[in-house]
Amino acid sequence: MSTTSTQVQCDIKGIEFADLGKKRIEWANQSMKVLQIIRKEFIKNQPLKGMRIAACLHVTAETANLAICLRDGGADVVLCASNPLSTQDDVAASLVRDNGIQVFAIKGEDNDTYYNHILAALDHKPHITMDDGADLVSVLHTKRQDALESVIGGTEETTTGRYGTGQSTIDGIIRATNFLLAGSKFVIAGYGWCGRGLASRARGNGAEVIITEIDPTKALEAVMDGFRVMSMPEAAKLGDVFCTVTGNKNVLDKEHFEVMKDGAIISNSGHFNVEIDIPALESLSSSKRTTRTSVEEYSLRDGRKINLLGEGRLINLAAAEGHPPSVMDMSFADQALSVDYMVKNHAMLEKKVYRVPEELDKRVARLKLESMGIKIDRLTPEQEEYLAGWSEGT
Ligand SMILES: NC(=O)c1ccc[n+]([C@@H]2O[C@H](COP(=O)([O-])OP(=O)(O)OC[C@H]3O[C@@H](n4cnc5c(N)ncnc54)[C@H](O)[C@@H]3O)[C@@H](O)[C@H]2O)c1
Repeated sequence: MSTTSTQVQCDIKGIEFADLGKKRIEWANQSMKVLQIIRKEFIKNQPLKGMRIAACLHVTAETANLAICLRDGGADVVLCASNPLSTQDDVAASLVRDNGIQVFAIKGEDNDTYYNHILAALDHKPHITMDDGADLVSVLHTKRQDALESVIGGTEETTTGRYGTGQSTIDGIIRATNFLLAGSKFVIAGYGWCGRGLASRARGNGAEVIITEIDPTKALEAVMDGFRVMSMPEAAKLGDVFCTVTGNKNVLDKEHFEVMKDGAIISNSGHFNVEIDIPALESLSSSKRTTRTSVEEYSLRDGRKINLLGEGRLINLAAAEGHPPSVMDMSFADQALSVDYMVKNHAMLEKKVYRVPEELDKRVARLKLESMGIKIDRLTPEQEEYLAGWSEGT
């Protein structure tokens, strides 16, 4: 760990990258209109005064704007990475140098450093935790129960899936490979929130999209949306590009690698790097080499080659910039309002998992629409009465 000249605790790649990070944070802020409105309110009302927050999130320009918003609301914020590959080192530097926010995150950090950074964030003795993937809260409940005492609650970031993941996953795959999607067979495992966004964007790029699923309802939805649906053993033989987005493990496994085409590209955009069974791929290979940034070419013993992108970690962050700021605007507006909600209501809340209250979601949606200049209709009193009753019919 180190400190900067301004005595902000940190472990980052280098403070010298801060100028670029500052510009990135400002660029993202331009598209984060909802968070801007919340930040103004926070500056005025100081709802988080005296709160210590430990946030384990992807250290990107968008997250930086959330951290600044929380700080401006009165909180003392410390940030660590929620993925070893997703940190933008210049953003981390600017957070420390220009915003006085403690950051423990270095792009490409090894597993030990990654967990040491989480421990450093917990040394902050937070009142509130923020997670994307629950690594911080799981370390808190296992190795650092001593830090539990001060905690009043935590937030966990989940689906910002459909629009942001769809676009940025395609972006990551293209940046990593420069592969032409038009005319290719693009296999997507999982047709949940992320998978369906990715499917529509892959189709938009001219790919022939194949979906694999384990849930019959989701599989049927994919069929009705016009995609080919089949099992992974079948799809494995056909695909040029594969992307897993299931939240499950070993979705691409030995039996699939054994039948893939020479030159197949495999990637993951699910949260953890367990969706592709990399040890199984290693076991089939005689050698591997890095052919491009974010591309590892595995030479299989039968002569075929399989290209793994971004070490099987979420490709939209490993090889691109993650969700566009406009998407993270809504996600982080929800996070900021949820923190505010917890601070105000924690005495009345039980020790259990709560969904984000609907009124907060609706408020974020309303503000986002307003920021886009879009007006929607309101129920008339007559319509409200009609919807609430059951007596009127034909
Ligand atoms: N890359 C990103 O920026 C990003 C953003 C949000 C979420 N995520 C992650 O993406 C993953 C999916 O999130 P989601 O919100 O779409 O979840 P979801 O639950 O909506 O969808 C997952 C789908 O995968 C299916 N599935 C599970 N096991 C499968 C298997 N073996 N083969 C085929 N399909 C299988 C499920 O039936 C489900 O339909 C999670 O790990 C989530 O954390 C990533």
